[in-house]
Amino acid sequence: MPTGGVLLILLLIIAGAVAVFVRLRQRRGDRSGSAPSPPSLPLLGHLHLLKKPLHRSLAALAGAPAVNAAPLLSLRLGMRRALLVSSHAAAEECFTVHDAVLAGRPQVLAGEHLGYGRTSVVWVSYGDHWRGLRRFFAAELFSSSRLGALAAERHSEVASLVETLLHDAVAASRGVITLRPKLFELVLNVMLRAITGRRHAGDVHMFQEIVEETFAVSGVPSVGDFFPALRWVDRVRGVEAALANLQSRRDAFVTGLIDDHRRTRDAASRDVEKKAVIDVLMEHQQTDPEYYTDTVVKGIVLVLLTAGTDTSALTTEWAMAQLLTHPGAMKKARAEIDAVVGTGRLVKESDITNLPYLQCVVKETLRLCPVGPIIPAHEAMEDCTVGGFHVRRGTMVLVNAWAIHRDASVWDAPQEFRPERFLSRDAVTTPMLPFGLGRRRCPGEGLAMRLVPLTLAALLQCFEWDIAEGCTVDMAEGAGLTMPMATPLAAVCRPREFVKSVLSAST
Ligand code: HEM
Repeated sequence: MPTGGVLLILLLIIAGAVAVFVRLRQRRGDRSGSAPSPPSLPLLGHLHLLKKPLHRSLAALAGAPAVNAAPLLSLRLGMRRALLVSSHAAAEECFTVHDAVLAGRPQVLAGEHLGYGRTSVVWVSYGDHWRGLRRFFAAELFSSSRLGALAAERHSEVASLVETLLHDAVAASRGVITLRPKLFELVLNVMLRAITGRRHAGDVHMFQEIVEETFAVSGVPSVGDFFPALRWVDRVRGVEAALANLQSRRDAFVTGLIDDHRRTRDAASRDVEKKAVIDVLMEHQQTDPEYYTDTVVKGIVLVLLTAGTDTSALTTEWAMAQLLTHPGAMKKARAEIDAVVGTGRLVKESDITNLPYLQCVVKETLRLCPVGPIIPAHEAMEDCTVGGFHVRRGTMVLVNAWAIHRDASVWDAPQEFRPERFLSRDAVTTPMLPFGLGRRRCPGEGLAMRLVPLTLAALLQCFEWDIAEGCTVDMAEGAGLTMPMATPLAAVCRPREFVKSVLSAST
């Protein structure tokens, strides 16, 4: 027989074997009671189907956001089992009925390096250590009395953003401003004032790069995460070295911050509610040194600086992008601010409750542009049953918030930016989860929901915004654990005539 014929027969045999293998695996899935699974490949499972941006490729796998999307799918990512959750009802079941069981975090290489050996709150699995950390956050940073005590600091940072923009808008060519670095600096200063009692003294740009790199790297899984036997590949590819290098820069930044603070602390002169987080951590170190080790302290400070900054800054940037592309909504939001706050003083946090349309703009932005489009992976710590399907211990749980927020069976015109839709919705029953759900839900939500609307309100109150002539706003999503705009937003910023007097009234 000619060589070509032998090859063809061999190929047919291999293709047949692959098809039988795939079918058998699917049947085995059905018999085990697990959620349905799309066709997969030997060894790779469904890994080859994951593309950037991840939330869109996972949505496509589940058939979302169409009405008949699969709420639950079993996936195999190399050696790992995963459950893909694409409906709000299924997510709610995960994080109410099975919340404790599904509160684990998978062990991944990034967590080992960036999470101080998986001891920091984002990376540690559910258990006593995680509970201790969350207690600290709830009591020392995110309680309403602590948040209330730092309102003046947030107000002064927003005023300082307005001042910078006022200066830059005049200096910039055609008045075009790139907002992201300014928003990042604002949030970083808010966090630093809470953590150290002071604004930044060093290179903000350098730390912004570190934060952006952190989210970009955290979103890129390593080969060893899916094939533990191939962990050496990550070493050869330099993935481990890159993570170690990033962590050493993060560690140097946070160590410098803590050491500086130790040298110059004025804790005694600050009232209890306004005490800097580092001061409180130092006190805990003295009373409970076993728990509050140097590593735990650094982990807490670093998490606050990273988890809080990019998320809030990017959400504000998306909101501005939506308003620029929906001038009617921008006009309505500004008219509301003018009517409620006027033009004699800068908007304050306490005004936000009287600005319902502005709140709707923020909610609609969180719906369409959730900066955590895939909730950071959880892991089943025990076997359980979700939606009638068996979920085995060790299964990774991937909740696609982005797809859930666009579910056509829940939202009218789900792809459209329509803030009004929230005017008639009860916040408690709104089927959204931009901050996650259940016990692992974002602890910084209260802070973010003060800072983002306040910043947005100040930007609208003090400036006219336009898309630069001949330009468009690129609404494409970038990749990474958080969802940045692929192209940072640049817009024409024109100060309104009363801004200077508003600023002097606020100092
Ligand atoms: C618009 C702003 C924000 C959004 C959309 C957001 C979203 C999220 C999401 C989706 C999670 C994952 C929840 C889960 O794993 O189930 C999370 C976790 C977390 N967020 Fe936020 N976040 C924001 C702002 C903040 C701020 C301002 C802080 C702190 C200053 C913060 C600190 C954290 C921490 C520490 C976690 C880890 C919680 C844990 O694993 O137990 N976030 N956030």
